[in-house]
Amino acid sequence: QNEKDSQFIVSNWAKDHYQKLLHESEEGESIGLSYLMQRGLNQTTIKTFELGYSLDQWDDLLKAAQKQGFEAKYLEKTGLTIVREDDPNRRYDRFRGRVMFPIHNVSGRVIGFGARTLKANDKTAKYLNSPESDIYHKSDVLYGLFQARQAIRTEEVCYLVEGYLDVLSLHQGGIKNVVASSGTSLTESQIRLIGRYTDNVTVLYDGDAAGIRASLRGIDMLLEGALNVRVVLFPDGDDPDSYIRKVGDQRFKEYLDKNSQDFISFKTRLVSQEAAHDPVKKAEAIREVLQSIAKVPDPIKRQVFLQQTSTTFAIDEQVLITEYNKLVKKDS
Ligand code: CTP
Ligand code: MN
Ligand code: MN
Ligand code: MN
Ligand code: MN
Repeated sequence: QNEKDSQFIVSNWAKDHYQKLLHESEEGESIGLSYLMQRGLNQTTIKTFELGYSLDQWDDLLKAAQKQGFEAKYLEKTGLTIVREDDPNRRYDRFRGRVMFPIHNVSGRVIGFGARTLKANDKTAKYLNSPESDIYHKSDVLYGLFQARQAIRTEEVCYLVEGYLDVLSLHQGGIKNVVASSGTSLTESQIRLIGRYTDNVTVLYDGDAAGIRASLRGIDMLLEGALNVRVVLFPDGDDPDSYIRKVGDQRFKEYLDKNSQDFISFKTRLVSQEAAHDPVKKAEAIREVLQSIAKVPDPIKRQVFLQQTSTTFAIDEQVLITEYNKLVKKDS
């Protein structure tokens, strides 16, 4: 039995432990489970994603693990416990009093955890995540992919959201082809992972300034990864989870269909309010779009996008292509 196997085993055991606490302990039910229900999640979703709860104690997991005969070093390596600064021989649980979101790899094995605080004004972070380990590389993982992969293949599109709750709410609402980047900016390996299942990605990031910035970054990376990209913007202050809760499953799906736009329209619209009567702004907007087009590896698609941009901005195509070539040269 090697190092990695031991880390898989202890992670899976911890998942079972947290799950048992959520459903069978007084604290887990009254605090953790009731929180998840209040957020609109049902038992099926909670079970499908193997959600759990960590007791608000310093050493509940540690003690239980010792009782099972797990070696402390594996708890340490998977980040389930933390070594005390004042006494390196002693440890304490990393996750305490939090709802636990196990993170699965594509074969369904638990490799790490996300954990949400339930305290209204917690001084620590809203979410804690497992640190990097031999089995968990944050930048290689998409939350929910294990539960989404069949649906991504059959629906031929992958919805990309920011957060854990976005994945859970959409899945519960019948949109099962959804994965989360978990708040960090997309990585090349996450994009390659999506590309194993589909060429089509629709970005559903939060409707705030941070979400829009992240969408813009994400779009260029997805284009570079040879994926077809669409974007749906949500009203400011909403994320996919809050919005589907607000309007219901049916209207949410209609919203996606009506508001999904390709990346050129998305970028165009973002700047168009100001750009309409301002030639300088309009030129900037066009260059923005050209920058994204430059990321597309397929020359035929690039050509189509250039045509579309020329129509969208009512700019002569030859002028646009000249500008495009200048821009590409400058960058290389
Ligand atoms: N995130 C994180 N650490 C934080 C904040 C966020 O890892 N301190 C990640 C989580 O994966 C989170 C995602 O970024 O789900 C999106 O963050 P945010 O929009 O702030 O949270 P929500 O997912 O909307 O969570 P909630 O609805 O519970 O507030
Ligand atoms: Mn890696
Ligand atoms: Mn956000
Ligand atoms: Mn949210
Ligand atoms: Mn959010």
